[in-house]
Amino acid sequence: MIKAVISGTGLYTPPATISNDELVEAFNAFVELHNAQHAEAIARGEMEALQPSSSAFIEKASGIKSRHVVDREGILDPERMCPSIPERSNDEPSVQCDMSVAACKEALEQAGKTAADVDAVIVACSNMQRPYPAISVEVQQALGIDGFAYDMNVACSSATFGLQAAVNAVENGTARAVLVVNPEICSGHLNFRDRDSHFIFGDACTAILVERDSDVAEGKGFDILGTRLKTKFSNNIRNNFGFLNRGDESGIGQLDKLFVQQGRKVFKEVSPMVAETIQGHLESLSMSPSDLARLWLHQANLNMNQLIARRVLGRDATVEEAPVILDEYANTSSAGSVIAFHKHSGDLESGALGVICSFGAGYSIGSVIVRRR
Ligand code: COA
Repeated sequence: MIKAVISGTGLYTPPATISNDELVEAFNAFVELHNAQHAEAIARGEMEALQPSSSAFIEKASGIKSRHVVDREGILDPERMCPSIPERSNDEPSVQCDMSVAACKEALEQAGKTAADVDAVIVACSNMQRPYPAISVEVQQALGIDGFAYDMNVACSSATFGLQAAVNAVENGTARAVLVVNPEICSGHLNFRDRDSHFIFGDACTAILVERDSDVAEGKGFDILGTRLKTKFSNNIRNNFGFLNRGDESGIGQLDKLFVQQGRKVFKEVSPMVAETIQGHLESLSMSPSDLARLWLHQANLNMNQLIARRVLGRDATVEEAPVILDEYANTSSAGSVIAFHKHSGDLESGALGVICSFGAGYSIGSVIVRRR
């Protein structure tokens, strides 16, 4: 029987960064401009004055200290407050294609494989920069892969849902190897004028190569022991942007065309669902939480991650057990758990067990249990 293995991972990190202080300075300048512009309406009580943001709040509420972004200048311009990413011509590679190719090349290199060894590409992320042709087909062409490709979107859970699709393809024999890629440009759907959420997201792209076990050298990579997915409808994380109702560039006046959430409800409702999903998944494989050497959790919010790890393990997790990359990257949607895996899995000994787990809009939850070969 064919079994699927993670043989390599890759990460593209945009070079530009924005610290909390820089983000807050731009936000507060925007607030001052806005309040001055609407001073009369505010004085008449027809409009509420906007409140300033604070770095101390951001770090305490989320664990985020900084984020990488595709474009800094547009986000930090108080009169703009959204990234400035020029449209490219049809003859140029798309931004998501460029990010994907960089991450995929690293994953292939780590696995010691080339495009000739791969049969499929799945681009799985929260937002595609166009509906078609699929970004994945463009990535396939840029890498020189002979096979098939498709895009899929399950918000922050896109990577784990993509992994399950890759495992199925490899184990069913429809592909020898599949690249799962997560080019997340979260700054493009974040409302940088919203005090409650302007600090949440960052940009990054991850890639995972999934191969059949017989093609991977012994002692290399991670056996995928099982995947479990769960969805349950909720409006608490929502983005209404779509081809039937296009938002304007800045999102002003059409705020529901950007990321909107009821953060507290999300925290309260999703955390127990995630812990139950991981526990149920372990149980179905005759394993217990104490067998886990590592939890590579979706990086949404530090307090949420700590709570989930505590619920799963029945005690606080150490930072070695549940690594955090939020401080540097913020929430990078589906890429987050894969960044944690990419950066914090090389030290595990043969036989060590871990779970890659995502959660987010939908609601959606994905659990992938792996064992170091
Ligand atoms: N700067 C300063 N103060 C701020 C602020 C900011 N940027 N944003 C909010 N506040 C204030 C609020 O006005 C509130 O003040 P009050 O107590 O006087 O009313 C206070 O800080 C607490 O706000 P609250 O929204 O309750 O904060 P929180 O501790 O619940 O944290 C989140 C907010 C969003 C970070 C948190 O709920 C969360 O992480 N939820 C899950 C989000 C998530 O993972 N989403 C998934 C996306 S994929």
